[in-house]
Amino acid sequence: MTEVLVTGGAGFIGSNFVHYALATRPDWRVTTLDKLTYAGRLENLKGALDDPRHSFVRGDITDAAVAGCLVERADLVVHFAAETHVDRAIHGAADFIKTDVFGTYVLLEAARRATHLRRFIQISTDEVYGTVPDGSSRETDELKPRNPYAASKAGADRLAYSFFATYGVPVCITRASNNYGPCQFPEKVIPLFITNAVDNQPLPLYGDGGNVRDWLHVLDHCRALDLVIEHGVDGEVYNIGGGNEVANVDLTHQILDLTGRPASLITRVPDRPGHDRRYSLDTTKLRALGWQPQVGFAEGLRETVQWYQANESWWRPIKQSNAEFQSYYATQYGERLRLS
Ligand code: NAD
Ligand code: DAU
Repeated sequence: MTEVLVTGGAGFIGSNFVHYALATRPDWRVTTLDKLTYAGRLENLKGALDDPRHSFVRGDITDAAVAGCLVERADLVVHFAAETHVDRAIHGAADFIKTDVFGTYVLLEAARRATHLRRFIQISTDEVYGTVPDGSSRETDELKPRNPYAASKAGADRLAYSFFATYGVPVCITRASNNYGPCQFPEKVIPLFITNAVDNQPLPLYGDGGNVRDWLHVLDHCRALDLVIEHGVDGEVYNIGGGNEVANVDLTHQILDLTGRPASLITRVPDRPGHDRRYSLDTTKLRALGWQPQVGFAEGLRETVQWYQANESWWRPIKQSNAEFQSYYATQYGERLRLS
């Protein structure tokens, strides 16, 4: 059996990856290490929690005792755990530095002592390239992160590379574009706008709505990671982009069409500070390994809307009775919505 450690496996992408791995890799035994922050939800692992090939450990990646012992047992580490929301990083970046940078360092230190580790996947992001006025970012392009989340991820990305270059840790780094799909926490634009639309609440569109994101279905992301685990080259970086560049205002209209709600719900609010205008990835390198996205954006977005419509019991308690979320929402949107 291959022992796989998944950090952050109770979050959005991590939990989709755990389910994907258990379904497609009968020879893998998966351990999820997750702190269960506001974004980590055990219900995301429903089904996996009863699977004899999966174990769940509640713990913090910055805790060297826990991380060291789990990394030592692993053949593969897929490191998703992070603070991930740009707007929260703008309010305060301390947790981003602690988890995304220092937590990654703790795991890498354990990885350099590990005896049979064959791959350490550092999950990075397209945000490390910064805003892309034209063309598409290649893996060799300069990193120009422009918000504290992106900068913390860039630090972790290069720290992982340094542990390959200095100590020979078998690191591959992946930089994915914006993911969407089931179980994404409703602070991110797609689940926030779908669930607000369901409830006939305003959709707070930042700035002029012209910012462009490249949308990647979470299962296409999982398939790409699988390929990099098996066929990636140590020390290399792989972009993972869906090839679906959509302006936020167009995305918002698509969500309104799919939920049958009026355009009058769109509420233009003051922009996110340092808001990157556009991300775009050149995925030639990954495609050469044999990957291409399988989920079209129109179909994937329709299915995602249907998932949130069918799973109100997943998101309604977060939005309606979770004090942490309500406090965040008031801080992020209260004044913005009043000003609009
Ligand atoms: P998420 O916020 O949904 O989940 C993060 C998970 O990490 C949660 O389960 C949380 O409990 C856990 N976690 C946080 N701090 C921890 C700590 N100190 N110790 C242990 N666990 C901790 O995030 P996501 O959207 O699933 O993103 C996963 C990874 O993918 C992140 O590294 C993120 O930077 C990267 N990424 C995300 C996207 C995207 O569009 N969502 C795109 C590219 C890259
Ligand atoms: O690009 C990859 C990144 O994508 C990941 O590394 C991050 O972890 C992930 O959060 C995501 O970052 P973004 O900032 O692009 O995602 P978010 O969903 O927050 O915003 C997407 C776009 O929508 C962005 O241009 C800002 C805009 N937006 C967002 C929110 C939450 C709005 O207009 N209104 C909103 O209320």
